[in-house]
Amino acid sequence: MFKRISALLITGATVLAMAGCSGGSDDTANSGGGSGDKKIVMGFAQVGAESGWRTANTKSIQESAKEAGITLKFSDAQQKQENQIKAIRSYIQQKVDVIAFSPVVESGWDTVLQEAKAAKIPVVLTDRAVDSKDTSLYRTFLGSDFVEEGKKAGQWLVDQYKDSKDPVNIVQLEGTTGSAPANDRKSGFEQVISADPKFKVIASQSGNFTRAEGKQVMEAFLKSNPKIDVLWAHNDDMGLGAIEAIEGAGKVPGKDIKIITADATHDGMQALADGKINFIVECNPLMGPQLMDLAKKVVAGETVPQRVVTDETTFTQEQAKEVLPSRKY
Ligand code: AHR
Repeated sequence: MFKRISALLITGATVLAMAGCSGGSDDTANSGGGSGDKKIVMGFAQVGAESGWRTANTKSIQESAKEAGITLKFSDAQQKQENQIKAIRSYIQQKVDVIAFSPVVESGWDTVLQEAKAAKIPVVLTDRAVDSKDTSLYRTFLGSDFVEEGKKAGQWLVDQYKDSKDPVNIVQLEGTTGSAPANDRKSGFEQVISADPKFKVIASQSGNFTRAEGKQVMEAFLKSNPKIDVLWAHNDDMGLGAIEAIEGAGKVPGKDIKIITADATHDGMQALADGKINFIVECNPLMGPQLMDLAKKVVAGETVPQRVVTDETTFTQEQAKEVLPSRKY
């Protein structure tokens, strides 16, 4: 706590504002495992704590920093872009060695990324992309291929209904508006299902990647749409909230309404094994070790690939039952 207060006093008003708006920042001092005499300091601006996926991602980053001997300055932006920008500016002021962040939305990063570049601090994007045309503003992007995830969800649906000619009414719970996973999962899914006109997305709205908003939006979908065959939720948490809404409306999730989600968190996989979800597209949050490795290389001036895609799979109900006991998140 003393450390945090002194840091705030030294770096002044900007940092005070950041800590006030973002739910605070935290320094994790680590020992051992470093690659040189001087420990690398990483500033990490996290999206928030909106989902089970995000909690697992934060834990992976914090634990991996410790293991890699990297001093981690961590801030939680509470899903607000302005908080992330403040956090990044404070890391620039503090002259950290490397900045990493998972951008809450895709647009609006050029100015702050130019500031980091001018200060000669390398930036690593994790999990989510930015839409900046100038790719020299960041050194690498480590994360999932969200378009591919959406396609996998769409393909499962196409395969399920391959023998039917009847219309299939789909509702979609989108992630945070303007975020890469929401944009890309929607686009990938629609690319695949649009090949057959029997698939109709009859309602699509953001549930902001949270369980509470997923439930709320699904309740509204159920009220205004008497026939829903399928729910495609952009993450497990919204799907789990929607299950509560479906049960509340006297319907059986997984049977009356088929459910596809993304992530494969423990709670999602449990619902899949229980038959309440029908199919999950994995999105792996455990990218801490790869991030620390890339950070060390970038700080050492080594060349790294512009894009590192995380390895992912999909799960049926049977597969969920098999792998649940060994899942790490
Ligand atoms: O960016 C990854 C997404 O963000 C995950 O699918 C979701 O659960 C999280 O909030």
